[in-house]
Amino acid sequence: MAASIVKRVSRVKKLNVSHISARYKLLTGSRHFSTSKQWNNALVLGVYENESTDSIDFTGTARKFDEKADGKISQLLLTVKKPLKCGKTRTLHAVDPEFSSVLVTCIGKRGEGYDELETVDKGRESIRAAVAKAVLQLRELGENEIEVDSCGDTEASAEGCHLALFSYDDLKAEKSRKPAVRISCATRYSQDKNSMEKEWRKGAILAEGQNLSRRLMEMPANLLTPTKFAEIVKEQLADKCEVLVRDKDWAESMKMGSFLSVARGSVEPPVFLEIEYKGRHSDSPLALVGKGVTFDTGGISIKPSQGMDAMRGDMGGAACVAGSLLSVSKLQLPVHVKAFIPLCENMPSGSATKPGDVVTAMNGKTIQVDNTDAEGRLILADALCYSEQFNPSLILDMATLTGAIDVALGAGAAGVFTNSENMWNKLQKASVRSGDRVWRMPLFNHYTKKITECQLADLNNIGGSRSGGACTAAAFLKEFVNNKNWLHLDIAGVMSNSGDVAYLGKGMSGRPTRTVIEFINLMSKETNNR
Ligand code: BES
Ligand code: ZN
Ligand code: ZN
Repeated sequence: MAASIVKRVSRVKKLNVSHISARYKLLTGSRHFSTSKQWNNALVLGVYENESTDSIDFTGTARKFDEKADGKISQLLLTVKKPLKCGKTRTLHAVDPEFSSVLVTCIGKRGEGYDELETVDKGRESIRAAVAKAVLQLRELGENEIEVDSCGDTEASAEGCHLALFSYDDLKAEKSRKPAVRISCATRYSQDKNSMEKEWRKGAILAEGQNLSRRLMEMPANLLTPTKFAEIVKEQLADKCEVLVRDKDWAESMKMGSFLSVARGSVEPPVFLEIEYKGRHSDSPLALVGKGVTFDTGGISIKPSQGMDAMRGDMGGAACVAGSLLSVSKLQLPVHVKAFIPLCENMPSGSATKPGDVVTAMNGKTIQVDNTDAEGRLILADALCYSEQFNPSLILDMATLTGAIDVALGAGAAGVFTNSENMWNKLQKASVRSGDRVWRMPLFNHYTKKITECQLADLNNIGGSRSGGACTAAAFLKEFVNNKNWLHLDIAGVMSNSGDVAYLGKGMSGRPTRTVIEFINLMSKETNNR
């Protein structure tokens, strides 16, 4: 008993963040691998949903494998009457000398594509979910080297596997952590292995970006302070991006009174991160802005304690910016991006901002802070103003901004407020590819009136009533933007996954990182926006 206590204490002691970050450096995809390990090989094959009880509708790869195995796979699948339905799997053992397990997963009906009502590519989504289920089942069986069928969409297949295998268990004892799994694309029967490998790598990189966002969001706030966030981002991006870590004095010199009014309640110093990725030079780069509240207690307008732990994810916008930049830089997209991330804690203390206090933002506008829990908009106000100084061709901000967007859309889609029809169309197109949906919300003057009717200052940081809370928050941000291509993504509703997205485990979701990467990819193809 005493010995086990000693062991536990020494382990907890070791968990400082430099140790965690050092380990994180070693991670490829979701785990790192020891070279001395014994690998058990498994194969995932896809089949389409098919009513027939005497034939199997295999994917190209699966059909070739079945032929090589003299039809053993189809025979075994047809021994039972019920055909496989979308999302269902069958695991076969000892059917091939090379693989201890062959898992057949059903990827839905052949030829499924864009669904207008669902605003999603159903074919790609089904593949992501089907391979995700397959690799998780094989991991449960102790398989640790898995070849996966491209299922006709290599990128989606790679995304599904890499997202599913993510787990944040760095802080748990070794024996409780999920085992390492190596995944690769089953290219052996392909005519064009090179392009398949390329697509697989793209999917893996997209997932890697989202997995970085998830990891940052999941990390507890005592370990992921603003300073530590900056350290990790530097470590992850420094070889591909320029990362500037600005301190409180710098923010003061920039007259960021709104941002600093939130930070002042905490003993943790605020940080303002400025990141640049130059896949090419442009005089009008794309600007990304992310809310980086590493913990939101609500401040003096304190939140109820139940569920408050989730507020460690209130830097989700910042995390998605970092995750997007990781992928954009790894994919070497020909685009110029500048990112702006205000980081701080929102804490109640003797030095905290009080309801009714008036603060001044960088653009000179005064703000009456009637609710200190509406802090996201305060830190974004200054970050948006600052981003405008770089003549961006567009500004896209992401923020876990309001509980109201969760009431409106739940985890179904991120709410998008934009002054540009063109930008909306592009973002929506990107989200159809990624499967991580967006839904447009209004920026009416109706909501602006709610925050400009203010007793002491130019603006009030709340709308007066709870109605349309996500819209009044967006209207507030609008007061700090002049850019004609502005998109504000309220991602509070999609912050965590409780089983809604089949290929994401429970926990912080990292949504909508892949949609933003796809959006940047689309923008990189537009000459006037490079
Ligand atoms: N961080 C919260 C919003 C949030 C809620 C994020 C749920 C993730 C999940 C934000 O700072 C906040 O507290 N907003 C208030 C605004 C209100 C005081 C006008 C809210 O939504 O209640
Ligand atoms: Zn808040
Ligand atoms: Zn918040």
